[in-house]
Amino acid sequence: MAGRRSRDFRRAVRKVTGLVQPVMVRTVAALRELLGAGTGSLGFVPTMGALHEGHLELVRRSRAQNNRTVVSVFVNPSQFNNPDDLARYPRTEQADVTLLAQESVDIVFAPDAAEMYPEGFSTWVTVEGVTDVLEGVHRPGHFRGVATVVTLLLRMVQPHRAYLGEKDWQQLLVVRQLARDLHLDVEIVGVPTVRAADGLALSSRNVRLSAEARRGALVISAGIAAVQRAFASGEHHIAALEATLRNALATEPLLRTEYAVVVHATTLRTLEQISGPARVLVAAEIGGVRLIDNGPLSAE
Ligand code: PAF
Repeated sequence: MAGRRSRDFRRAVRKVTGLVQPVMVRTVAALRELLGAGTGSLGFVPTMGALHEGHLELVRRSRAQNNRTVVSVFVNPSQFNNPDDLARYPRTEQADVTLLAQESVDIVFAPDAAEMYPEGFSTWVTVEGVTDVLEGVHRPGHFRGVATVVTLLLRMVQPHRAYLGEKDWQQLLVVRQLARDLHLDVEIVGVPTVRAADGLALSSRNVRLSAEARRGALVISAGIAAVQRAFASGEHHIAALEATLRNALATEPLLRTEYAVVVHATTLRTLEQISGPARVLVAAEIGGVRLIDNGPLSAE
């Protein structure tokens, strides 16, 4: 009965506005009830909100490949190693829901922290190996929080496919690893990074960049592109490729580089020479905003 009333309401909204608001649920019980009422393949896009074209690309891929799409919006406190970063993370729920309505998303799951981590919660997911380097070193505890919340969300939604952006390359590897190890019956789909016309990788954090910092941040994507060009013209030595990257980043005095490396694309191990799939990865801070970006060096 409740389901029919909600469908009638959605039909009426569509008639007046041309849009259907997604059904918004905040509890796991409501989510499970709603999902139980439908059939067909289910796509899932986990997000922390502050949505941009990069997220919408994930949603479009999910909509194209599945009968229904769920998007979660949850700023996960356990993956922030810096309390200031958590406090300043942009929160734009109303605007997010409007964008998701324009993309005809079926369900938005927006739990609060108590729903995800209820009193007494004490199970954490730790992925080893691929988390020992890069973000794992610079953001201690970050991947424990990511792996735990993604595992929870995948258990709650139980999608056929989950869509994650390649901009967070190491996170994508972590999620693939945990899905494999825990026999979560889900296909993890990586979607290429969406960039602004000037090359900057889209990120929810970009709204915090001043005009000066945003201009300066362009050396990150330019540096990655320079390495890709050097590789394409036959340079396969890591030392030379990393020097190209460092030189490009060094042209911006405001940028503080955390890491700028060329590594094996899936193990993230250091290499001397490229003979298989490799990836350029950069993390840097500019104007108080931490940015990450990466790009492929060969067909993966
Ligand atoms: O990439 C993100 O937005 C987050 O790390 C994720 C995957 C939604 C987990 O909180």
